[in-house]
Amino acid sequence: MRLDKYLADMGIGTRSEVKQYIRRKQVLVNGVLAEGPQQKIEPGNDQIVFQGREIAYLEYEYFMFHKPGGCVSAVTDQRYKTVMDYIVEKNRKDLFPVGRLDLDTEGLLLITNDGALSHDLLAPGRHIPKTYFARVSGKVTEEDVRLFADGIDIGEKKITQPAKLQILSTDSSECEKNCLSEIELTITEGKYHQVKRMFEAVGKKVLYLKRLSMGDLKLDESLPPGAYRRLTEVEVELLKS
Ligand code: URA
Repeated sequence: MRLDKYLADMGIGTRSEVKQYIRRKQVLVNGVLAEGPQQKIEPGNDQIVFQGREIAYLEYEYFMFHKPGGCVSAVTDQRYKTVMDYIVEKNRKDLFPVGRLDLDTEGLLLITNDGALSHDLLAPGRHIPKTYFARVSGKVTEEDVRLFADGIDIGEKKITQPAKLQILSTDSSECEKNCLSEIELTITEGKYHQVKRMFEAVGKKVLYLKRLSMGDLKLDESLPPGAYRRLTEVEVELLKS
């Protein structure tokens, strides 16, 4: 790999900025002044030092992001803030969110540049479970639990895969439309607006939605909405296994 690309990939600066740093003798390769921006280096084998600081090679980065409402799960957007606008301490420029949460949905979103992992997590055949907390208008009942477990018609070619609905709380009165229920729902697909459409199909409306987990990765509740942290090695392995 070219030295200037390595430094740019590791977030040291733009390609033209890092060329300047190299020309100004601010970069060492294996303890020797770099020859020039086009010098070939072997990531992981050669030692690269910039302004006295060793720049280790990070092929992949993995962030757990607590998505707040009001931002889109995209890399760029004309209208809204994107989830990427929040990730400032990054090296790689090729990061993207794994899957989508709606504009108003909060919760766990994985951000990485590992395309193979993203592909695996989103592959329809893998049925990776995703668990959501929701506040729903209307009284969620044991009948809904059964319907969700059997699979319901949300207007797609097939009914939904069996989903696990757990009622956390609901008003005990006989109310129908004016009461609120709190639930947890685990689905193993990722159809557009899936959770909202499942509740619509049983005559209820999701008022608030938050993703709690994806596969074995759980949202770190010490992260407030809008905050993020790097995944630990154990978490990365959990996702890959
Ligand atoms: N289901 C939805 O309806 N919205 C989301 O953001 C995620 C799942």
